[in-house]
Amino acid sequence: MNRREFLLTGAAMGVSGPALALMNTMDHDKSRMGGRPLGQMMRSAPVAGPVLPEGAPLRELPRLANMATADGRFEAELMAGAAKARFADGLDTPILAYNGESPGPVIEVAEGDRVRITFRNAIPNQASTIHWHGMPVPADQDGNPVDAVASGDGLTYEFTLPEGSAASYWYHPHVSRLTAEQVYRGLAGAFLVKPKVGPIPAAYGDTVLFFTDLRLAADGSLPADSMADRMNGRIGDHVLVNGQKQPVLTVQPGTRRRFRLFNATNARFLRLTFGDAPMTIIGSDGGLLAAPVQGATEILLSPAERAEVVVAFEKAGSFALRTLSYDHGWMGPGRPDDRDLTLMSVEARGAALTEMPPLPQALRQVPELAASAVRRRFVFGESMTMGGPGSMTIAFMINGKTFDMARVDVEMRVGQIELWEIQNPTDMDHPFHIHGTQFQVVEVERNDRISRPAYRAWKDTINVARGATVRIAVRQELTGLRLYHCHILEHEDQGMMGIVDVVA
Ligand code: C2O
Ligand code: CU
Ligand code: CU
Repeated sequence: MNRREFLLTGAAMGVSGPALALMNTMDHDKSRMGGRPLGQMMRSAPVAGPVLPEGAPLRELPRLANMATADGRFEAELMAGAAKARFADGLDTPILAYNGESPGPVIEVAEGDRVRITFRNAIPNQASTIHWHGMPVPADQDGNPVDAVASGDGLTYEFTLPEGSAASYWYHPHVSRLTAEQVYRGLAGAFLVKPKVGPIPAAYGDTVLFFTDLRLAADGSLPADSMADRMNGRIGDHVLVNGQKQPVLTVQPGTRRRFRLFNATNARFLRLTFGDAPMTIIGSDGGLLAAPVQGATEILLSPAERAEVVVAFEKAGSFALRTLSYDHGWMGPGRPDDRDLTLMSVEARGAALTEMPPLPQALRQVPELAASAVRRRFVFGESMTMGGPGSMTIAFMINGKTFDMARVDVEMRVGQIELWEIQNPTDMDHPFHIHGTQFQVVEVERNDRISRPAYRAWKDTINVARGATVRIAVRQELTGLRLYHCHILEHEDQGMMGIVDVVA
């Protein structure tokens, strides 16, 4: 939110006393309102929550079994429903899960496969859908909020994954105003589309690291979103990797390991580093890059972004996957300290491996989406209105409007490349996501400086930092209604989303 706008709105509404005090002190944790620490009002998270066990061996997420008998087909059932998890000793946590698993089972298919997944919604009293994030599936199979599946009902999703679509995608619910809640309660899973023959040496392995964010109350329950969560997006107390706190992966020295990194958190910005272990970036949201990018020391994944990297653990020792500090803007008190968290550690020990095949110089073709004559602008906006002391209404908008399922915001031609300009004049970063396709970043403008990306990549989500303008080249290959939105899920649920109608 723009602080000035926020203050003006308050003043214009004749807000006084405690509400104004609140507005004027949003940056100061220590200020008090009626004797109650402001930080407590703004954030319902417990100060000292349950302790999670750490250091267990990194688990491989379960795979969704393929029930199809014919080649080139994948068939399965996914049921969303209530489950119990045990994050802390002696505490049961009521969560939501797919087939009893959270994160959901990894779905793995091959390019060209015909996929048929029957969804059953067993979530008590809530509609849901499954959205196939980043995947080129038909609009009416994409789990949009208009296609909500009522509690107790089911729906079969069907689509074919074209050649060239191999990538690390994910799936999650996408239902009106409940997406954020259903995701933080546990509904999200990885969806891997693999090529029939890929360029990455099999000796590197292929390890999914699926990051989620957990906040646990003292009684083991998942607290509801607080005011601070609705403003900033929900930041939990524990970043989990494959559902575990600080797991350990043991490898032999000399190992090169391929990791697929998924930011499946509601609102965390993960600026990740493996420290001294050399990291090579090989893939983005939409699959492999044209060529490996060597010598990376860190990678920023905003909510919903993915990356593929190869990390070399050359010598024996202990290597931590850590977060570095990243300032994405914060409204009010209670800003979490998300610097220097260890998410996982890799122990390299035992006999050294000597033979590791090198990465090929070229991974695949990534043709450029050439700029086009059609340009559109999308401007992020936030506003806050005071309904009285302590009660605020927040709106998150694109081009001055909150989401309306019955309104088409933009119409575009199928197959035509457009240049979309996404402007963020607010005080918070917003990761911009488009359904149904992969786009390319053309340039980023910030503080009157224009920079071009260091390498070409297929993306479905791109962070638009506060004060920045990001220009992307977009093409949709299939007709129908598609959503675009901020992937901080609380912002999306509160209206920072629009509809593009892709017409023939
Ligand atoms: Cu992850 Cu609208 O999507
Ligand atoms: Cu999506
Ligand atoms: Cu946002």
